[in-house]
Formats: sequence, C-alpha cells, structure tokens
Amino acid sequence: MNRLAAAGLDPVKLPRHIAIIMDGNGRWAQERGKERIQGHLQGVVSVRRTIEECGRLGIGQLTLYCFSTENWKRPQPEIDFLMALLNEYLIKERPEIMRQDIRFSVIGRREGLADFVLAEIDESLRVSANNQGMTLCLAINYSGRTEIVDAVRTLAERARVGTLQPSDIDEATIADALYTAAMPEPDLLIRTAGEMRISNYLLWQIAYAELWVTEKCWPDFDEAALYQALHDYARRERRFGGLNI
Ligand code: IPE
Ligand code: IPE
Ligand code: MG
Repeated sequence: MNRLAAAGLDPVKLPRHIAIIMDGNGRWAQERGKERIQGHLQGVVSVRRTIEECGRLGIGQLTLYCFSTENWKRPQPEIDFLMALLNEYLIKERPEIMRQDIRFSVIGRREGLADFVLAEIDESLRVSANNQGMTLCLAINYSGRTEIVDAVRTLAERARVGTLQPSDIDEATIADALYTAAMPEPDLLIRTAGEMRISNYLLWQIAYAELWVTEKCWPDFDEAALYQALHDYARRERRFGGLNI
C-alpha cells in the first residue's frame, strides 16, 4: 500500500501547494526552560521531516516562512543565530535536497541578507534547478507587503518606459510581477502555535487558501499533525465565491 492509502488520504483531495507559518520555536523552548535558540534548533528537525513527508506524499510545492522582514526587529544575537542556522541548513541539507529530487526556490528581498547566506541560497538554486520532484520554497527576508511594493515598482517602471499600458494591468499582470510568478497559489496555509493571524505572509496568494491552525509549536509539528491538516483540508468545501451545485 502506498503512503497516501496507508494514511487514508485521497490523492485527488491533496493540496497542490502547502504554505506554512512555522511559529512557536521560542515558546517551545521557554516551556522547557531553554533558550529561545534551542527552539530554532529543534525547529530544523520539523523542517526536515515535513519536507520529506510532503515529498513522499506527492505534494507539488511546500513554502516555508523562515524569516520575515519584521523579524529584523528581534535582538541581534537571535538574528545572527537564525542567519547562521539558515546557512548551515542550506549547506548540510543540500545532499538531501538532491537525493529527494527537490527543486529549491526562494522568495523575499535579497537586499539586507548577508553575502554568505546569499551565496548558499544561490548554490542551492543552481544545483537543484533541473530536479523534477517537489518545489521547496523558502521565504527569507520576506513580507507580503514588501513583495507587493517590489511588484508595483516593476510595473511602474514598465509603464514609464512605455512597455506596459496601465489599462492592460490585470490580476495576471500583478501575479506575474510577484516573487511567486509561475508558482501555483497555496491551497492550504498551516500555522503552528495557535496565533490566528497571517503576519504578512503571501498576502496576495492566499486569497482563497484554506487556513489550518494548530496549537502545537513548530518543533512539535510531526507527521501526525500534517496528516490531520491534510484530512481536514480534504473535507473542506472550496467554493471560490460560487456554489457547488
Ligand atoms: C518562529 O518561532 C521562528 C521565526 C519567526 C524565525 P518564533 O521565534 O516566532 O517563536 P515564538 O513565536 O516567539 O514562540
Ligand atoms: C511569523 O512569525 C514569521 C515566521 C514564521 C518566519 P512571527 O513570530 O514573526 O509572527 P508574529 O510576530 O507573532 O506575528
Ligand atoms: Mg513567533
């Protein structure tokens, strides 16, 4: 029996694209009397197992919120730790990305990221460009509003030089100017650690995503939690404003 059948999941009712707000690393650590950074370290274990399981289930794309533009407000030692962790992850997991045939991609602003991080991002993009399996997209130095600002700048520049008529701008023009151009929109948005908010994630793209929030902190997010989200998603009736009659 394959993995989907074993989990009782109907392949037709699987989300094509799952986006996750990986929240609660700090709380996970504090509840255990540890430093916040221990939570980030443990969060990497969840990242690894979620990627592997989504790939095995045949999910097309997984987009993980790793660092928001607002996260620069955190204390510098925590930011430094997160950047070092990201760098180490990119290097250490590269062989796994290749073994799992994952196509690596990234969304967010490059400006503001250190050169050592950008170099490892670029290397992962390069080596995995021809892979055929799941797309793994990391949102790094990302915010939905910044993304929209960057898209508007691109379109305004095209209008200024005369290659775009304002009256020709439609939803597809905007979608194609976002970092996520050519990616499918998320069908399912998962948030861990219980907060009922979007925190500036994929604002344009989640217009019709199904939302699923768990009280579990990100380091506790495991295969069972993922399956629960997928079962709940399969039961949702997606109407997109119409009527399913
Ligand atoms: C999510 O966990 C990781 C990042 C935002 C980088 P947090 O660090 O936000 O953990 P909490 O929300 O403070 O518990
Ligand atoms: C969202 O979590 C950002 C990431 C998971 C990278 P935050 O912890 O930054 O969100 P808020 O501050 O609770 O809204
Ligand atoms: Mg948080």
